[in-house]
Amino acid sequence: MDRKTAEPVVTDIPGDRADEWVQYHHEFAAPSTYVYEFVWDVTSESIGPFCTDIDGNVLLDFTAHVAASPLGYNNPKVTRAMEGFDIPEPTKIAGQDFYASGGWPPEDPEFPGPTQLMERLVSASDGLDQVFLSNTGAEAVENAIKICYADRGHRGVTFDGAFHGRTLGALSLNRSKAVHRKGYPEIPGVLSVPYCTCEDECTCGWETDGPAGNALGDKLHPERGVIDPEEVAYIILEPIQGEGGYRIPSDRFLEDIATIRERYGIHIIADEIQSGLGRTGEFWAIEHTPIEPDVIASAKGLRVGATIGRADVFPDETGRLSSTWGAGDFLSALQGVATVDAIEEYDLQENATRRGKQAKELLSDAYLPGVEDIRGRGLMLAVEFDTKERREDVVRAALSHGLLTLGCGHKTLRLLPPLDVTEREIEMGVELLAQAVQDVA
Ligand SMILES: Cc1ncc(COP(=O)(O)O)c(C=O)c1O
Repeated sequence: MDRKTAEPVVTDIPGDRADEWVQYHHEFAAPSTYVYEFVWDVTSESIGPFCTDIDGNVLLDFTAHVAASPLGYNNPKVTRAMEGFDIPEPTKIAGQDFYASGGWPPEDPEFPGPTQLMERLVSASDGLDQVFLSNTGAEAVENAIKICYADRGHRGVTFDGAFHGRTLGALSLNRSKAVHRKGYPEIPGVLSVPYCTCEDECTCGWETDGPAGNALGDKLHPERGVIDPEEVAYIILEPIQGEGGYRIPSDRFLEDIATIRERYGIHIIADEIQSGLGRTGEFWAIEHTPIEPDVIASAKGLRVGATIGRADVFPDETGRLSSTWGAGDFLSALQGVATVDAIEEYDLQENATRRGKQAKELLSDAYLPGVEDIRGRGLMLAVEFDTKERREDVVRAALSHGLLTLGCGHKTLRLLPPLDVTEREIEMGVELLAQAVQDVA
């Protein structure tokens, strides 16, 4: 498949083979999240945003596996690194007390692994100097809140609309959809406050006189507050809310959170699991804000979970954090390093900014009946509809035109093209989406 000329070609989706595959899958798989019956064929040709399904349909994938494949399919930088690693059995490195090298010297080994991934993350994260690796985003969040609790306080602050993962600790911080949380126990002491996205007139109580007058500032205020800031271990925040609907916080809200951190010394955890790794045009989306995070949680495109923090926030005692795979899985970390290096080598932050702007301009010029808002930063893009039904119909119609998209929030559709998406691919994606919206209308 030649990326320069590839185009989506759909004959029948889901086709007969996909139907059969899905049926077989569900004989064994527990019910989970399934958006549509698209069955990627890993044995067929795929490159950049183009992939082939089990019935031979070629699709333009603007989901990037919910940001877990920031470079799309078969990026040569990643595939070369993986092909070069010719140990036949995938090796996992067990436990915190095991080290493994991918050669010599440690600063530049033949195969960079978990140690080099941690080094890359530290150098990408101003003021943060240590990393604990795990497997998933939820574990990265779980460890982030653990280190904050170990350092100070027994309360946490989360925001309406937040999503932080599905382990019980991370789940206790979720405020996006009831289905994620209902019936499960929660860790105590978690307070939720509005995540303000109001640009002009604020309707969520954040607009008054700085942090002493906003929703969280009021609760922490030394005289009229109800919570002693010393009791608060962390404020966890997505710099742009993901599952909650690609919501972009207002500047005022961000300034207030920065002031609250400065005033009370409460740790800020930036959840960059969806927004990080260059997607918004900065390496971390929090860099668009005045907030200095004390801890960053990352995962997805890194292929491992990573809790990145200041050395003084991590507990000193050994054994406070650990996991069988807590030193990182070598092959996954190798892929993570190749991804981080590709972002720098190919200027992908710059590309994300440029192509994101192009996408927003084209979407704004397109005839899109039923669309209420077009927003995003870099390639973390969203189109909000007037109703949830319309959004769902558009996701299905886009698929029938060969474009893969995802919903988020209540009635929003998200677009996550690969970070190296080209001008031609953005034009194609917007055109297919516009056709889908018009079909539904
Ligand atoms: C912002 C955010 N935090 C945490 C998670 C959980 O990550 P994982 O699914 O790897 O556990 C996700 C997953 O979508 C996410 O978007």
